[in-house]
Amino acid sequence: MNNKIKVELKNLTKIFVTNKNDQVKAVDNINLTIEPGEFICLLGPSGCGKTTALRMLAGFEIPTTGEIFIGDKNVANLTPDKRDTAMVFQNYALFPHMNVYNNIAYGLKIQKLPKKEIEERVEKILNLMKMKDFADRVPSEMSGGQQQRVSLARALIMESGVLLFDEPLSNLDAKLRIHMRDEIRKIQKQVGISSIYVTHDQEEAMGLSDKIVIMKDGAIQQVGSPRAIYQKPVNEFVAQFIGRANILEGKIVAEKEKTVSLDVHGIIYETEKTTDHSLGQNIKFMIRPESFIIGGKDFKVPVTKSIFMGSHHEYEVKLFGNIYEISENNPMRKKTVKVGEELSFSMDPNSIHILEK
Ligand SMILES: Nc1ncnc2c1ncn2[C@@H]1O[C@H](COP(=O)(O)OP(=O)(O)OP(=O)(O)O)[C@@H](O)[C@H]1O
Ligand SMILES: [Mg+2]
Repeated sequence: MNNKIKVELKNLTKIFVTNKNDQVKAVDNINLTIEPGEFICLLGPSGCGKTTALRMLAGFEIPTTGEIFIGDKNVANLTPDKRDTAMVFQNYALFPHMNVYNNIAYGLKIQKLPKKEIEERVEKILNLMKMKDFADRVPSEMSGGQQQRVSLARALIMESGVLLFDEPLSNLDAKLRIHMRDEIRKIQKQVGISSIYVTHDQEEAMGLSDKIVIMKDGAIQQVGSPRAIYQKPVNEFVAQFIGRANILEGKIVAEKEKTVSLDVHGIIYETEKTTDHSLGQNIKFMIRPESFIIGGKDFKVPVTKSIFMGSHHEYEVKLFGNIYEISENNPMRKKTVKVGEELSFSMDPNSIHILEK
């Protein structure tokens, strides 16, 4: 349906000037490539510049400096209608008085396409979105999820090269959000349209993305697959932002070509070399709560929290003066440790990930 299009952001910066004349650097020199057909999520805490970056892509904001390539065209200074983008908004932005059919057809009518072509394209999208039965309803006669599907249909029908989403599911309840997320992913794969999706929901980002872009204070911290971001975060911020992370300290006491040996309070773990730290250096590393070996002999420490969560059992333990999280998957028929009792465990060396300086 769409030609797959590459998107490139080059040295993109946006500085807002407030009415008090203060300067706010909302986006700080970002460089990013979205390969044709790729689904990318911009993820980061509130105020980190996600929406501003997306609005620059859509043409609702003009960059202070930098370039935006959609295909091989620099669109940084073009108005939204001159760009090959369509946007899905958080609040659906449907016309309340128009039925589903006319809401979806609206963009094509503005383009003054022949009536027959409009009918065919709306029909095709209604089928794709399984929304034929809703065509005559107005937005107030539909659930939030159904309205969001119309809003997605309205963007898809434009057959633009790039689809932009700004937290489109945040008004929906948790279950519907997961359903819609799978739906969006399925349709995006089917249509093959390059997509950029803004969210601050990490699970959503994991469930949707080919690549996740982690932002902080307007700058990109890391770009990678969900797996790389979760298992190999480059720094403490990324580690803490995605999932739960324990950050511990160790010392590099031996080095091979691909591995290093870490001394963690007297226990030696050989793990993958991920940074250019040198022998004798103290480093920080990350280990996820699920990456401890419960019952292992390396550590034996008191439990300060012990909670049964169904799929796993959550512990907090006091280790080297700090509190760390440990979780045991599938607690069925396993003995659990109560608060005040001691938990024995080791660390899985393959799951130790050394962080950058
Ligand atoms: N028009 C504006 N004038 C001045 N500052 C602005 C303007 N729009 C955004 N900002 C500031 O730019 C920064 C980035 O805002 P942005 O809306 O891009 O964040 P966000 O990552 O989308 O956050 P959220 O998750 O809360 O939606 C914030 O500090 C915000 O206050
Ligand atoms: Mg935002």
